[in-house]
Amino acid sequence: MDCVTSTAVLSLLLGCVGVFSLFKLLRCLRMKARLQDAVVVITGATSGLGRECAKVFHAVGAKLVLCGRNREALGQLAKELAASRASEVQTHTPRMVTFDLADTGATVAAAAEILQCFGHVDVLINNAGVSYRGTILDTPVDVDRRVMETNYFGPVALTKALLPSMVQRRRGHVVAISSVQGKISVPFRSACESPPRWVRCLS
Ligand SMILES: NC(=O)c1ccc[n+]([C@@H]2O[C@H](COP(=O)([O-])OP(=O)(O)OC[C@H]3O[C@@H](n4cnc5c(N)ncnc54)[C@H](OP(=O)(O)O)[C@@H]3O)[C@@H](O)[C@H]2O)c1
Repeated sequence: MDCVTSTAVLSLLLGCVGVFSLFKLLRCLRMKARLQDAVVVITGATSGLGRECAKVFHAVGAKLVLCGRNREALGQLAKELAASRASEVQTHTPRMVTFDLADTGATVAAAAEILQCFGHVDVLINNAGVSYRGTILDTPVDVDRRVMETNYFGPVALTKALLPSMVQRRRGHVVAISSVQGKISVPFRSACESPPRWVRCLS
């Protein structure tokens, strides 16, 4: 390869890398712009995935409504988020709404409280859920019922209560955090398999 050809190939490669980097940067900026000031509701924000999601959405400037049953844990998370204001974007003080997803009445009442926090909801992340390990023979039906109430009927009730406001505004997203157990059977997880399958049907 002569000198002219290698310079052309190198320029082409650098050009491609430049265009790709620019594309990634623009995509990142667009995502941030969309989430800046967006009202994001996260159920199960007191631990695990929900807690981590809260940190990410807070950092890009979303207005958070943190949900769970444990008000103390939600308060602790809100404090941590407030202390992490290193972000370049304008961040917002999160609101907290506590309720038990297994209680339909409480969930519907909580939906009204959630709507009052910022006037509307842009993104609902149905993340809260419980897990149970046991054989079918050893798992009392009350456990199956409790898992179904929390992991399926709770998110359904919350979604149905918030959906009319989204439909009226002609915008909104509902995210379902489910499980691979909705697709494959896992030993000792019989109680946890029905909700994700039903969630998939609903989605
Ligand atoms: N981690 C995994 O390996 C895995 C695998 C498959 C699927 N998932 C699914 O991913 C989601 C998050 O999992 P994770 O591991 O992050 O969960 P996690 O750490 O156990 O947290 C569960 C969250 O759900 C909330 N919650 C539980 N019962 C509730 C109820 N009755 N009403 C309202 N909130 C309730 C809890 O908050 P309070 O205690 O404050 O109410 C907690 O914040 C769950 O839906 C889970 O089924 C997780």
